[in-house]
Amino acid sequence: MPLCRLVYKSQTSWDILSNEVLQKLAINSERRNRENGITGLLVLSGETFLQVLEGESEPVNQLYRNIIQDKRHQDVTLISYESISQRSFEDWGMRVADLNDLPIASRDFLRSKYPEQEGYIEIPDDTPKALALLFDVRVLCLSEPGTC
Ligand SMILES: Cc1cc2nc3c(=O)[nH]c(=O)nc-3n(C[C@H](O)[C@H](O)[C@H](O)COP(=O)(O)O)c2cc1C
Repeated sequence: MPLCRLVYKSQTSWDILSNEVLQKLAINSERRNRENGITGLLVLSGETFLQVLEGESEPVNQLYRNIIQDKRHQDVTLISYESISQRSFEDWGMRVADLNDLPIASRDFLRSKYPEQEGYIEIPDDTPKALALLFDVRVLCLSEPGTC
């Protein structure tokens, strides 16, 4: 079956999204995604999410429909949706990386490559930059186990 990769960004609804809620979201997403053959990464920078979902188009599309309606975030904006020949985030059903919780060296590395806004790495709108950030965070998470 052909694979696809979907990337979107959104704004958190912090009044209902505490750290505890985020942890629970991560655990449930990891389990459900594995069951549905979905892999990916969820990045949080300040109040902005950037998420990549990979898998067969039907489960990915269904999950995105759920995600759009989720009240824990808003302003969901699709950045890219494309066919892929192989997965790039196959290590995780879903991993949550809050950029502000990364080790200082990792944060400095990201700061050297991506612009900041009000002290947070700005989540890019365009596909190549958003993917570059996701790939960089993937490498940082893999090289520092336990931080993401
Ligand atoms: C930022 C964000 C990312 C999410 N990512 C996932 C995910 O990767 N997998 C997942 O199953 N649910 C994810 N969810 C939760 C879904 O929106 C939804 O609650 C979940 O799929 C259960 O849907 P259901 O209650 O209709 O079965 C996410 C929610 C938010 C706010």
